[in-house]
Amino acid sequence: MHPGNADRLNGPGPGPDRPWPPARAANDGDPDLPAPDADGRFAWAITGSGHMLKESLALAARLPRVDLFLSAAAEEVLPRYGISMESLRERFRVFRDKTASAVPVGELYEARYHTLVVAPATSNTVAKCAFGISDTLPTNMFAQAGKLGIAGLVFACDTQPVVVTRAPHDWVTLHPRRIELDNVERLRAIDHCRVLCSLAELESALAARLSELCLAWNTSSS
Ligand SMILES: Cc1cc2nc3c(=O)[nH]c(=O)nc-3n(C[C@H](O)[C@H](O)[C@H](O)COP(=O)(O)O)c2cc1C
Repeated sequence: MHPGNADRLNGPGPGPDRPWPPARAANDGDPDLPAPDADGRFAWAITGSGHMLKESLALAARLPRVDLFLSAAAEEVLPRYGISMESLRERFRVFRDKTASAVPVGELYEARYHTLVVAPATSNTVAKCAFGISDTLPTNMFAQAGKLGIAGLVFACDTQPVVVTRAPHDWVTLHPRRIELDNVERLRAIDHCRVLCSLAELESALAARLSELCLAWNTSSS
């Protein structure tokens, strides 16, 4: 085991009462990696979840300098909830999941992203992230951001025994299985990642992140 790993594995991850590690904690003292800066951007990954989809996008629109990274499933699900690619492009730079190797992940190295948000995160994406699998654009963004020490916020969909969610034309009550709930707990142990279980938790984590970076919510609704 790498000498530093025992401490990292045994130490507590970021939590509501613990401050974030520096946005690029992994590069401390490494002159080859850029330092975090408040002029950087939010990378926001969207997965194929209808649950809290519109609400998550409304939060993204209130942040300064956000780029979206969609999974292929997200691209299918978005129009089912009345959200077109054109409307997203009016507000954000949008990267699509069109390559086997997740080419847009290169943006993490070239642009100055200080934070990765995955919201909403499907059970599928949560499971993959929790087990270190990266085979979609959001899961690759999550893995690479973690390796760069970029702070990650994941808003998981299935976190409660009962979830009332919006299907395209109706409301549905779901009962997440033990495996989904266990994967959320597993995800909490991943480095540089904070798991949020409600929109209110996500909003408050974003507010804290903005404050750390000396940034503010957008005041304009346009
Ligand atoms: C209309 C629609 C809504 C969906 N909503 C959810 C959801 O809220 N939560 C979820 O875990 N999966 C949901 N799914 C299923 C995911 O899109 C599917 O598991 C997909 O493989 C996830 O891929 P991704 O995690 O790479 O985005 C939905 C599918 C459809 C068609």
